[in-house]
Amino acid sequence: MKKQNTTYYICLFVAGIIFSSCAKDPKIIVEPDAYVLNVPSGFALPNIPDDNPLTAAKIALGKKLFYEKALSVDSTISCGTCHKQEFAFSDNVAITAGVEGRLGFRNAPTLTNIAWATEMLMDGGNPTLETQVYVPIETHFEMDFNMVLLVNRLNADAEYVDAFNNVFGSNPDPFGITRALAAFERTIISGNSRFDQYYYQGKTEVLNEQEINGMQLFFSPTLKCASCHTGYLFTDFTYQNNGFFADYSADSGRARITLLSEDVGKFKVPTLRNIALTGPYMHNGQINSLEEIIDSYSNGGSGHINQSELIQGFVLTAQEKENLILFLNTLTDNQFIHNPDLGED
Ligand code: HEC
Ligand code: HEC
Repeated sequence: MKKQNTTYYICLFVAGIIFSSCAKDPKIIVEPDAYVLNVPSGFALPNIPDDNPLTAAKIALGKKLFYEKALSVDSTISCGTCHKQEFAFSDNVAITAGVEGRLGFRNAPTLTNIAWATEMLMDGGNPTLETQVYVPIETHFEMDFNMVLLVNRLNADAEYVDAFNNVFGSNPDPFGITRALAAFERTIISGNSRFDQYYYQGKTEVLNEQEINGMQLFFSPTLKCASCHTGYLFTDFTYQNNGFFADYSADSGRARITLLSEDVGKFKVPTLRNIALTGPYMHNGQINSLEEIIDSYSNGGSGHINQSELIQGFVLTAQEKENLILFLNTLTDNQFIHNPDLGED
């Protein structure tokens, strides 16, 4: 499937005047700050909220805040402490420590293509990237700070006062902090893995026979992986119990917010993009390898009462299992993890 490269100009709202709407001709300069979001081939345009149009200066401020340790009470932890670029904006430990070494109960998920997510967190308990910013800042075992004191701290820093005034026309405040961080997060886009080159860019030579066989298995009606890990995002954003564990009493997942017994053990289907880099796996980081994951799915799961009917087990030869893993490895996007626009300066 070949699709044209699509570059979209984001409409900008400047000084109360819309100078131009969604210009597609690159020769039209909308205004000096216009930010061109490079949407990969095969991807739809993500939804950008009307109150948070993308501009280059806002994204740069958001990036500075993402790597800013002053967001935590004792200035030791930034967003980037748990969401590391080298691990596709996840971490390589089961549970990353917050301030004073405090441990939470969930594995830091990848932020790959988070602009397309419909709800935030593994239980879906937070609606937008903007509102999600409050969660780590105020959680006891993450940054343990609060928005009011953070605003005061940033207002005491001349560099931030300048930057916020430049972007928002006002001093640092909760609106600007949440908008800038969300704007940066929307640029955490990965769509140039070898799989993408093969599937969306028509470069048929980049995958070998084993990887192609692994891809066919992944998309097959027997394995059903793509019934949940579907489309260019490799998730349908539904909440599912994939039968990995027999006991979800440590973290009931979606049931934490709905309080419904039928939601026990259901978690938002995670993307599989950059999966080779985002281990350890599952909501609790208790699964260490892709081999173990395929074994559990092929064994038909734990049989938990809420387990999805799609998890029914299947038989693979040793070679097919290896091929499926080789395919999952083609979802790694090396350009993404080395993109200087996303990394700490
Ligand atoms: C101490 C580690 C830690 C820090 C610091 C941290 N996060 Fe996270 N982040 C997590 C964990 C763990 C989750 C999963 C929590 C859940 O699902 O309940 C998460 C979830 C998220 C999500 C939701 C992802 C999804 O797929 O739903 C976003 C977005 C996010 N973090 C952004 C940020 C931003 C922005 C910051 C800084 C303001 C930050 N994080 C700081 C560990 C951290
Ligand atoms: C019924 C929906 C469903 C099906 C079918 C399914 N998965 Fe999953 N998958 C999930 C959910 C939900 C999670 C997260 C569970 C958790 O966090 O405890 C997950 C997690 C994973 C993870 C770990 C992701 C991470 O970041 O921790 C991998 C890898 C994975 N699945 C691969 C596969 C493969 C390969 C198949 C086909 C053999 C498959 N899945 C079939 C729903 C599904």
